[in-house]
Amino acid sequence: MGSGGRSSSGGFCYREGRTLLLLPSPPESGVLGPGTKGSGEVFYNPAMASSRTRSVLLFKHATEEGLLGDGEIYALDGLTASGLRARRWLNELPKEIAGRISASMVDLDIEALNWAEKSHVRFPPNHGKGVLESVLGDLRVEVLSSGRHWVDIDPYGSPVKFVDSSMQSMARSGVMEVSATDTAALTGSSKTSLMRRYGARVRNDSLSHDSGMRVMLAVMSRIAARHDRSISPLLSVWDSHHLRVSFRVEKSISAANDFEENIGWRVFSPMEEEVSASMDSGLLPRGSLNGLPIHCMLPLNFPVDRLDPRVSGPLWINATGEMGAMSSMTVGSALESCGPDFVEDDPSGWDEKRFERERRVVSRSVRNISEESGVIDARHLIVVDDLSSWLGTGAPPSPTRIVELLKEEGHKAGVSSYGRPSFRTDSPWEDIVEAARSIHPPM
Ligand SMILES: C[S@@+](CC[C@H](N)C(=O)[O-])C[C@H]1O[C@@H](n2cnc3c(N)ncnc32)[C@H](O)[C@@H]1O
Repeated sequence: MGSGGRSSSGGFCYREGRTLLLLPSPPESGVLGPGTKGSGEVFYNPAMASSRTRSVLLFKHATEEGLLGDGEIYALDGLTASGLRARRWLNELPKEIAGRISASMVDLDIEALNWAEKSHVRFPPNHGKGVLESVLGDLRVEVLSSGRHWVDIDPYGSPVKFVDSSMQSMARSGVMEVSATDTAALTGSSKTSLMRRYGARVRNDSLSHDSGMRVMLAVMSRIAARHDRSISPLLSVWDSHHLRVSFRVEKSISAANDFEENIGWRVFSPMEEEVSASMDSGLLPRGSLNGLPIHCMLPLNFPVDRLDPRVSGPLWINATGEMGAMSSMTVGSALESCGPDFVEDDPSGWDEKRFERERRVVSRSVRNISEESGVIDARHLIVVDDLSSWLGTGAPPSPTRIVELLKEEGHKAGVSSYGRPSFRTDSPWEDIVEAARSIHPPM
């Protein structure tokens, strides 16, 4: 059970980041799965705290970069449950940004909205800025009532059914964040669900979570194109049980016309002609064809056999994040915006140690993201376990060590924030092989 305090106004008081909330009962600590709720309860999953922290940071970056216009910001926490995501935006963003936000929390569950409102009344933003309303109804209907600069879709399971109407509601320039907890489908374990919901196939290997995020982006861009919009990824994260993609949406018929340029295939154990085509399309660094890489990407018009078990897609073949957005997510900026400072008699009942633990949770939510920002567009994402088995070199190289070696050779390389020990690089394959073999010679 999570630590927290009984509130005199009824309910249980809990804290996430710098924001306090009321719940009808104590949260289960670290619920890892998609989570469930019984009747009379409100869905709140502490395992999603890092996702909400990144949301605050991305909101700050997007506003500072002018992605949300320069006037009022209409933001929608589409499937709000406890209301915490929207409340964290208002409470943890600087007052100049929060003061521009008019946010709506939408949910079908009146109980959830009642608790979200109670939390907001009892613990309004410290700076008193920003507007927050709660809306009872179906997101697919409510989202269409006005244009939005920010839409968050965080459902149980697949987000697909919510995306079409949400996309239509987007302002000329805005940001959408979409989570999926149907990871069995997106990573290719449940093949029929993947095909039915996302129209794709994914090889269930150590890159399958990356492929799953790329499938999500491909689906988002196809839906965007239908509504004369294009997307550009800002951040894609695999975090325990869920995948989440965050992207800019812009109204542009010409960019929408070109959406297929970002879509294609990922091929495991590619043949020489596939590697060659990948290099010709700029999807793989140029190099020798003497040794072939573990994977490569191919454009959509390359003739693949969609039933070939080596092939994943259609999926997004370009960068899954943006340097500026990712580089803004440092431990320092996370703690500055979202790290709670200890106060005696905090309504949550937390002691100094518990505050310190929450600061560590906030720090961990951005682990490796800013470090990865400079290589997010690199063509190779390599899981070190795969590399050692591919090359027969026994122990996998440490991602940090191989990155150092590749950088010494003048290549772009960086440790990845992907959920398995891995690195990204733009180095030709033969240099990666040489670096790995210099660390652990073949057995
Ligand atoms: C996974 S929870 C959302 C968690 C929340 N975003 C957070 O950060 O804690 C999904 C919520 O969506 C609500 N919901 C399900 N279908 C909906 C729909 N069609 N329209 C609006 N809300 C819906 C549920 O009542 C539930 O509260």
